[in-house]
Amino acid sequence: MTIDGPRLVAVSNRLPIKIVKDREGWHVQPGAGGLVTALAPVLKNRRGIWIGWSGGSEEAVLSELLAQASKMSGYDLYPVFLSADEVHGYYYGFSNEIIWPLFHDLQTRCNFCPAYWYEYLRVNRKFAEVISRTIGPEDFIWIHDYHLFSCASFLRDIGVENKIGFFLHIPFPPLDIFVKLPWRSQVIEALLKYDLIGFQTRRDRRHFLDCVHRFFPEIRLLGRGTIVRLDTGDREIRVGTFPISIDFASFEADAGSKQVADCAWFLHEKLPDRQVILGIDRLDYTKGIPERFRSFRLALKRYPELCTKVSLVQVVVPSREEVGEYRRLKAEIEQLVGAINGEFTTSGWIPIHYLYKSLSRRDLLAYYRLAEIALVTPLKDGMNLVCKEYCACNLEGNGVLILSEFAGAAAQLKNGAVLVNPYDEEGVSEAIYNSFCMDVEERKRRMLKMRNQIRRRDIFWWVNTFLQAAFSRDLAAFQEVEEDYEGFFY
Ligand code: UDP
Ligand code: G6P
Repeated sequence: MTIDGPRLVAVSNRLPIKIVKDREGWHVQPGAGGLVTALAPVLKNRRGIWIGWSGGSEEAVLSELLAQASKMSGYDLYPVFLSADEVHGYYYGFSNEIIWPLFHDLQTRCNFCPAYWYEYLRVNRKFAEVISRTIGPEDFIWIHDYHLFSCASFLRDIGVENKIGFFLHIPFPPLDIFVKLPWRSQVIEALLKYDLIGFQTRRDRRHFLDCVHRFFPEIRLLGRGTIVRLDTGDREIRVGTFPISIDFASFEADAGSKQVADCAWFLHEKLPDRQVILGIDRLDYTKGIPERFRSFRLALKRYPELCTKVSLVQVVVPSREEVGEYRRLKAEIEQLVGAINGEFTTSGWIPIHYLYKSLSRRDLLAYYRLAEIALVTPLKDGMNLVCKEYCACNLEGNGVLILSEFAGAAAQLKNGAVLVNPYDEEGVSEAIYNSFCMDVEERKRRMLKMRNQIRRRDIFWWVNTFLQAAFSRDLAAFQEVEEDYEGFFY
């Protein structure tokens, strides 16, 4: 297919739509989340396309549905069909049992099965073939996340010369951990086929640059600031830091709607005369949910005045249930909820309210609005959008955010959040108590800083900055070291 003029081609493991089956048959729903919100208008304006895995639905059904979805969204959706074996080796295997735990510093959870690597390469080649059949010569290809490290490498083999960007949504691990990967130099080499590589934080970029230096010492590092350059001798690769964010204005506006306000009031009425502490996470061992529960238990023991005066509402969103580690985690979480509630419940008060489900947007925003404290304590997280969404919805400005110093967001929110080490049960329990006692002036002062930061660096800023970094001839504007994302851990 020949196309005139440059378009934006977004590529990710999953397409930005949901295909659901009910009694009347298959339906397509627009996907949720910040990435879709941010990229959708850009894709629409530039007649862009989105390429991704169809998520397991039948081929014949899907073609029809995608045609409808493309019309609805104003940009084209192209599916990559994967067999059950490909999904097993590439998605559940290499992506979820190797890269996901390793890149979150949890190497003992990795299953370095060699067959996964070959399936990963085969599927990356398949993605590259679909991309090469779909694009025009001027199009900018923007590939997302760890499922597709090797895509640019296969695109170059096929002869595609377009500019290709890559953004890693998860952390990049320190050299000492990365070198455990049996295919370590191949992964770095594959990444060096991109023209622009983006990371969430300076820490992630520093780790990546350490690995480049370890495996390819002849490559020179040039420049400073938000974008640096790698000179391989025959080409230059830009490497930048772009903390992803949310559509602040839409969260703020929707949180202020009557529907959400009524729902928040109704839900808080069921938990009267106490502060609600909120946790919202996908079911994932990186989110530190059992560790959080143990800290909460210690807080109730050490500070008995918290009993009856706080309730922890923990929402766990089902995820990757086919992976054994995730099923085991669910059982552990449920056992802990039972044990803590069994130990502390008194007449009219239950310490943990546990929900295992996906929330509607109205309910999600209502929980954000009603919570006096958000407890976001991942063991490691690329960014963590939940904490940014909580701040955007905190219209009264008096909520407290307890945030893990190992979440990417800590780099930007460090001046407003109560930072904790999620492995430190005593430290987190103390932070819970101090947040409970925090006076309203301090709460407001801290929340205002965070809301201003998130408003200023929203998802539209993120998309624009990445595209500018890919296309600007002159990188002078990027030379400044951004105080916003500086810090020891970051
Ligand atoms: N979320 C959701 N369904 C829910 C609750 C939350 O889709 O029932 C969303 C939430 O609004 C946020 C995302 O899931 O945008 C979680 O993103 P985050 O970066 O915090 O963690 P990830 O799940 O990507 O590791
Ligand atoms: C993280 C990853 C995404 C992934 C999401 C949900 O946010 O960075 O790439 O899509 O988790 O995980 P799943 O495996 O269900 O796509």
